[in-house]
Amino acid sequence: MKSTLFFSLAASVAELVRAQSTSVLPDVAPAAATLPADATDAQVRLLETDRVQVTDEVVADLMKNNETAEYGELFAFADSNITTPEARKRSLLRRSSNCKTAPGDALWPSKFVWGLFDLLTGRALEEIVPLASVCYPKSEFDNYDKSKCEQVVSRWNTDYDDPGSAMFPIYTGMTCLPKANATASDTCTLGGYSTLSLEVSNVAQIQLAVNLARTLNLRLIIKNTGHDYNGRSVGKGALSLWTHNLKDIEYIKNYKDSYYSGPVFQVGAGVQGFELLQAGEKYGVSVITGICPTVGIAGGYMTGGGHSPLMQLFGMGADQVVSMNVVTASGRFISCSPKLNPDLYWAMLGGGGGTFGIVTSAVIKVHPKIPVTTSVFNFTTSPNVTEATFWKGVRAFWDEMPKYNAAKTYSFFQMMNLANVGVPGGGYAFNMLPFFATNKTVDEFNALTKPFFDTLTSLKIPYQIETKYYDSVYPAFQATFAPQDQAIGSTTGTPGNRLLPRENWEDPKLSNQTFDAIKNIVDHTILALMYHQTPQNPPQIINSVNPAFRTEGGMIVAVNSVADLSPKSLAEAGEKMTNVIMKPLRDATPNGGTYGNEADISEPGWQKSFWGANYDRLVKIKKKWDPTGLFYVYRGVGSEGWEVMDGDRGVQTQDGKLCRV
Ligand SMILES: Cc1cc2nc3c(=O)[nH]c(=O)nc-3n(C[C@H](O)[C@H](O)[C@H](O)COP(=O)(O)OP(=O)(O)OC[C@H]3O[C@@H](n4cnc5c(N)ncnc54)[C@H](O)[C@@H]3O)c2cc1C
Ligand SMILES: *[C@@H]1O[C@H](CO)[C@@H](O)[C@H](O)[C@H]1NC(C)=O
Ligand SMILES: *[C@@H]1O[C@H](CO)[C@@H](O)[C@H](O)[C@H]1NC(C)=O
Ligand SMILES: *[C@@H]1O[C@H](CO)[C@@H](O)[C@H](O)[C@H]1NC(C)=O
Ligand SMILES: *[C@@H]1O[C@H](CO)[C@@H](O)[C@H](O)[C@H]1NC(C)=O
Ligand SMILES: *[C@@H]1O[C@H](CO)[C@@H](O)[C@H](O)[C@H]1NC(C)=O
Ligand SMILES: *[C@@H]1O[C@H](CO)[C@@H](O)[C@H](O)[C@H]1NC(C)=O
Ligand SMILES: *[C@@H]1O[C@H](CO)[C@@H](O)[C@H](O)[C@H]1NC(C)=O
Repeated sequence: MKSTLFFSLAASVAELVRAQSTSVLPDVAPAAATLPADATDAQVRLLETDRVQVTDEVVADLMKNNETAEYGELFAFADSNITTPEARKRSLLRRSSNCKTAPGDALWPSKFVWGLFDLLTGRALEEIVPLASVCYPKSEFDNYDKSKCEQVVSRWNTDYDDPGSAMFPIYTGMTCLPKANATASDTCTLGGYSTLSLEVSNVAQIQLAVNLARTLNLRLIIKNTGHDYNGRSVGKGALSLWTHNLKDIEYIKNYKDSYYSGPVFQVGAGVQGFELLQAGEKYGVSVITGICPTVGIAGGYMTGGGHSPLMQLFGMGADQVVSMNVVTASGRFISCSPKLNPDLYWAMLGGGGGTFGIVTSAVIKVHPKIPVTTSVFNFTTSPNVTEATFWKGVRAFWDEMPKYNAAKTYSFFQMMNLANVGVPGGGYAFNMLPFFATNKTVDEFNALTKPFFDTLTSLKIPYQIETKYYDSVYPAFQATFAPQDQAIGSTTGTPGNRLLPRENWEDPKLSNQTFDAIKNIVDHTILALMYHQTPQNPPQIINSVNPAFRTEGGMIVAVNSVADLSPKSLAEAGEKMTNVIMKPLRDATPNGGTYGNEADISEPGWQKSFWGANYDRLVKIKKKWDPTGLFYVYRGVGSEGWEVMDGDRGVQTQDGKLCRV
């Protein structure tokens, strides 16, 4: 039985391969129709980029045109009634393979099919070339350029406006790192970068790509900024959708539905934090963004949860979305809100990026303009400040965190064991970067923090402090968070995090245990980043954000050093992160959780850590909206059945075929 089936499959695959045309490309126009702005069930008019869509008529036209007829089926919607039973069989056959079809496979689309796709998308397709390839005198990309290489090397840790790049190169497989003086024997290959990028400027292109990838069993990636901590915006052999240029921002003063009435912004999926903050300043409103100005808003941030220096007043990133437009795995463009496709709305806001569908735009709440007092302060060990005294100082801050949360403020600070970063003599440092006292005057900030600074004084800990008042968020953000721009692209450190429940401060014994676990983190890492933060929860929670966020009193991000990039060192670093650095804190916070967007790549029990009790429902919704497994991201909801076969790297990279396991 089995072998008969195998031979008949093999024969049909051979037919599929033979059927790949090699003829000359026809002269065809982009496959798209422009719909009226009110062609939506949502409460707001469609953005220009959302109006350009593939409809049943557009696909029917492709099938009618004698030059594209043969290929029309590749671009048909999953629920299309115009594809023939034979076409559906062909697609099923392609998907019967255990792995996604990759370059070099017999069924990888021919040049003709890619050429046609390029024409139908208005010439938006390009091959991905690793950014650092210009540094290599001899590579398959043949683009060596010394001066361009110097730019790449010097800008590697800042934002890139590049279709292929991911900001944590460990997960592309480290096959083309920036190198100032590479020689002819140094190699640069594509590794885990995606293969082709579609530079998206409208919804139709996304729909064509989704339909093509689904029918041809291709790996599909969504890349916005590439900030993902675990390499989820790249994938070997993938067609990658680059949403970065969907930059529209429209202000709507009087939005109204049964869940929310008030002002909103409608934003394209490519809008980044700094652009939203600028728009907020322009219209005199406050907006929710992360602390990194270059993170995308409606991509990974809001779908992953989104913590923010304003969350204590206005809620989390996901809580802002009143509706969003999405291309689903079927290729259809739909709106989601608490009323429209409410299950998908619930799942996509918190359930993680790249998993349920592709956000093309979102309608997000904006809030009243508020003043902010920021304060930057620091203290260290010194001949007069022993390590024990230093930790008493930190403990004083720790003990005040519940009060700071109750006062609806936020802070971001670093703690470092200086010996771990090679400072002679070692010691410890505490750097507040900054305390973000939203809606507070300087006097109010001083009154709030007086007991803490009094303790530092009584401990004889000298400190430096600079406190400033701003009458809106943007200049406060610009002066404090923006310049840090959170170095990216590092291959020397990997992060892990934990959300700490407020209850961990309430019981003195538990508070001690938790604080000891924090000290343990500082002693075993190169950097510990901590936030006092707690969200203003909406009266009714209608999204799937990790429930551990709802009860948190703070969050810690641990940065572990990586000795070198050998599989052995990477595996050791992973082991240390999971079992030495984070374990005592996990043990102290059984009711805590982990933020999936900034997680340890080897997080144990990730389903529960990232989503708690929401996980089972998320899996059901994933199966309903993506029955063929079109969308895969590492440790996304429902990803258990898949693995990237990258060999032994010591850590999961994206440099391998994506296969069912
Ligand atoms: C320096 C730095 C600072 C950060 N600070 C914060 C912070 O203060 N608060 C916070 O909450 N987070 C923060 N983050 C984490 C950040 O939220 C995540 O990295 C987030 O996933 C980035 O989203 P992106 O769309 O910009 O990135 P990408 O890497 O492009 O995408 C991330 C994920 O979302 C998917 N995705 C992207 N666009 C879409 C779309 N349109 N539809 C569906 N899926 C999509 C991708 O496939 C990928 O899986 C920070 C990250 C960095 C690197
Ligand atoms: C399609 O039809 C046109 C005229 O209707 C004809 O000129 C052309 O050769 C046809 N093309 C193919 C590929 O059959
Ligand atoms: C296909 O669906 C469209 C609209 O969804 C409908 O108008 C048409 O009659 C259907 N055609 C067939 C052959 O079922
Ligand atoms: C590369 O070579 C230049 C001289 O050509 C030298 O100044 C520079 O330090 C070298 N850089 C590295 C990283 O080795
Ligand atoms: C340390 O304490 C001594 C004695 O109180 C004092 O004279 C000295 O200035 C202090 N040093 C620093 C760096 O604060
Ligand atoms: C800011 O504080 C004032 C009073 O100090 C209060 O009336 C207002 O509601 C606060 N704004 C927000 C957004 O919390
Ligand atoms: C400590 O804080 C002061 C005042 O805010 C600042 O000027 C100084 O640069 C900080 N020092 C360090 C090492 O961060
Ligand atoms: C917590 O730790 C402090 C300081 O080490 C200690 O004084 C206190 O007794 C401890 N409390 C409990 C309940 O263990």
